[in-house]
Amino acid sequence: MKLWQGRFDSPIAADADAFNESLSFDKKLYKADITASLAHSEMLSRCGVISQEDKTLIHGGLKEILSEIESGALVIEGQEDIHSFVENELVKRIGDAGKRLHTARSRNDQVATDFRLYTRESAKEIIKLLKNLIRTLITIAEKNVSHIMPGYTHLRKAQPINCAQYFNAYSEMFMRDAERFADALKRIDVMPLGSGALAGTSYPINREITRELLGFKNMSQNSLDAVSDRDFVAEYLFACSLVMAHLSRLCEDTILYSTSEFGFIEMPDAYSTGSSIMPQKKNPDICELVRGKTGRVYGHLTAILTTIKGVPLAYNKDFQEDKEGLFDAEKTVKDSLAVYTAMLQAITLNVKRMEKAAAEDFTCATDVADYLAVRGVPFRTAHGVVGKIVRYCLEKGKTLESMSLEEYKAHSPVFDADILKTVKAKNSADSRNSVGGSSKKSARAGIRSLKARLAKLPE
Ligand code: ARG
Repeated sequence: MKLWQGRFDSPIAADADAFNESLSFDKKLYKADITASLAHSEMLSRCGVISQEDKTLIHGGLKEILSEIESGALVIEGQEDIHSFVENELVKRIGDAGKRLHTARSRNDQVATDFRLYTRESAKEIIKLLKNLIRTLITIAEKNVSHIMPGYTHLRKAQPINCAQYFNAYSEMFMRDAERFADALKRIDVMPLGSGALAGTSYPINREITRELLGFKNMSQNSLDAVSDRDFVAEYLFACSLVMAHLSRLCEDTILYSTSEFGFIEMPDAYSTGSSIMPQKKNPDICELVRGKTGRVYGHLTAILTTIKGVPLAYNKDFQEDKEGLFDAEKTVKDSLAVYTAMLQAITLNVKRMEKAAAEDFTCATDVADYLAVRGVPFRTAHGVVGKIVRYCLEKGKTLESMSLEEYKAHSPVFDADILKTVKAKNSADSRNSVGGSSKKSARAGIRSLKARLAKLPE
């Protein structure tokens, strides 16, 4: 029997029923649904809308249902959605008192409440996973603050950078992601219950009691909006999308840096896979999968934005489509963060190789131009002189480090003996002392700043 069967002569057709149902996926909301019903009935009894006795029966029944679901004794099936399932189950157990639970409530404000409770928990869990990843990145940065590596633009070696600065760059991205979830929480943490189907209710309810019982920070201020607002789903999915974008970039770097061509990273065996035909292969499937899964999370964001856009006020069944995408994005983001973090903890860096690579391919050319510019040569002219030096080196098979002082002087009289120190990759990285720059000092300051922001994130 449907909750709404009274008005109908005949039951819903089997195919329509199958198409209409949401229980197969919204059963994930069972705990949120029961939590919200406990609060709602508590409020109803405090306001005198239902009796104390009914409330006691309702609470007993709901708690029993919750523990049976959790023990596996009660299987969630056979109803249109989780709200119908819990209510039917309650009525089966306690009769008329159970039928009073839905007073001053609609499934429209109920589902909005349940889904916000669920999304709030989920956002907090993702923040936790992001914090773990940032902590792991910081640990690696701290270990490698005395090492350098090549920095790239256009995937060509550009300038030597501090290793810690590299890892800090990703920490900055994931820090913004965690802060974005924390900010989205302000708008997720709003209670719609008490909005009824769309227009509120004439029962003497007290929404403040329910808000407090459910630990919501705020209460919705317009019942039409409250039952049809799915902005929080879109925001959550956008925050998920950026996490995946950042993870995907990190995975791409991990894949590249672990190739024999780069050789900066040794992937742990435990997080690599082999080939069924090529015995020598060690493949970075985990990274590739994270990169690949980014697409489906973007897809869910596009889907919810598209679902929302043409829906007239207030609730429409279109909104039932808000859940599966969020559940899938949640699983994808959580799994990706967890597995990448675990893998990162087991990765080894080939510091020798990184430091050697940092010094190759004229990465200190900018430092040579800066050397001249600081000594009065206009930067554009200095740039030209160094361009010629690079060509000279290429012709003679030399590097900036193997050039003698005489050879430098032949290109410009401004050069002095200290140029030979300037072209050392470590000195180059360490000379860029600007805030956020590639020096050891700047990288250490970067770590301090990250730690301070980490402490400000929600628990
Ligand atoms: N399963 C529905 C959803 O997820 C619950 C709300 C149903 N409301 C209604 N008026 N049919 O949106």
